[in-house]
Amino acid sequence: MGESGNRRILITGALGQIGMELLDALQTKFGSENVIASDIRDPQDVNDSSFRYERLDVLDSEQMENIIRDNDINEVYHLAALLSATGEKNPQLCWKINMDGLMNVLELARKYKFRIFAPSSIAVFGADVGKIAKQESPLNPATMYGVTKVAGELMADYYHSAHGVDIRGLRYPGLISWKVMPGGGTTDYAVEIFHKAVASEAYTCFVREDTKLPMMYMDDAIKATLQLMDAPSDKLSVRGGYNLPSLTFTAKELYDKIREKIPDFKCEFKPDHRQEYADSWPDETDGTLSKEEWDFSLDFDLESMCDAMIQSLSQ
Ligand code: NAD
Ligand code: SER
Repeated sequence: MGESGNRRILITGALGQIGMELLDALQTKFGSENVIASDIRDPQDVNDSSFRYERLDVLDSEQMENIIRDNDINEVYHLAALLSATGEKNPQLCWKINMDGLMNVLELARKYKFRIFAPSSIAVFGADVGKIAKQESPLNPATMYGVTKVAGELMADYYHSAHGVDIRGLRYPGLISWKVMPGGGTTDYAVEIFHKAVASEAYTCFVREDTKLPMMYMDDAIKATLQLMDAPSDKLSVRGGYNLPSLTFTAKELYDKIREKIPDFKCEFKPDHRQEYADSWPDETDGTLSKEEWDFSLDFDLESMCDAMIQSLSQ
């Protein structure tokens, strides 16, 4: 397949926070008939069946192979994973789903020669990273989720160099979106707070008010994903995960910005176990390389992201 040739796409973990938005974007760009969504859950859970759907546990390599072979798939967006907070509750399961699932996709890519998008995360960084994480900053994660993301990046490099697999990845910051609730991450507070604000309810935020993390509005994340997958392969020096430029604000700054628009909104801060994971991550990510190699820049800042969230959730 050429870089922008006819795409026949499979998304794993498609019913999650990113999957449902990426599904829309890929359907719009390549046609609904060319995109198959899959997940371990049923789509009725999200009240939407306006797409081709296959139930698929990514640990079931045989079923994955059947779907890929029968539909002549030439691109897989591999989103199925356990995120940081859920992963720390059951680290063995986190390792199994995140690593064995990725291995199944990689082995099939070797056989069927399809391209892969497999996201990494800011969770690859650990407490030694400093405030601004660079592309080459040390990767010493504090969570099992982060460990799987570092190992996933290394596997991407290995399958690319040893077997010529065209795999690409992004270190997504915490993603803020309104269509689907996030699935058990540490950055979920930055989404939950909007739902409560728009519903005129108070919110209890599970991190301290001075907690500052790299964040991004979902539209920018989807744009980055499509742009990376359109970039010529020979322009890419990174396979496991490109840093992206990020927004950066404390939980209190986010609260204050929302209160400028919804003055009665009340939020209190009661940190729980997720504070520790947040403390191990940087404040911000430096995305210079994504700009240099495939020309990525953000469209949304804190102000426009808050406006978009509040407007969309209010409708
Ligand atoms: P999510 O939790 O919202 O969705 C993950 C989906 O995977 C869920 O629908 C779940 O049902 C499915 N799933 C779980 N186990 C499965 C299995 N065995 N087989 C098939 N499906 C299974 O997660 P998301 O936020 O959409 O994240 C998608 C990817 O992006 C993950 O790799 C995640 O690490 C990465 N990422 C997300 C963020 C973020 O802020 N959302 C940030 C950085 C990286
Ligand atoms: N948003 C994700 C999490 O908090 C980061 O990868 O787990």
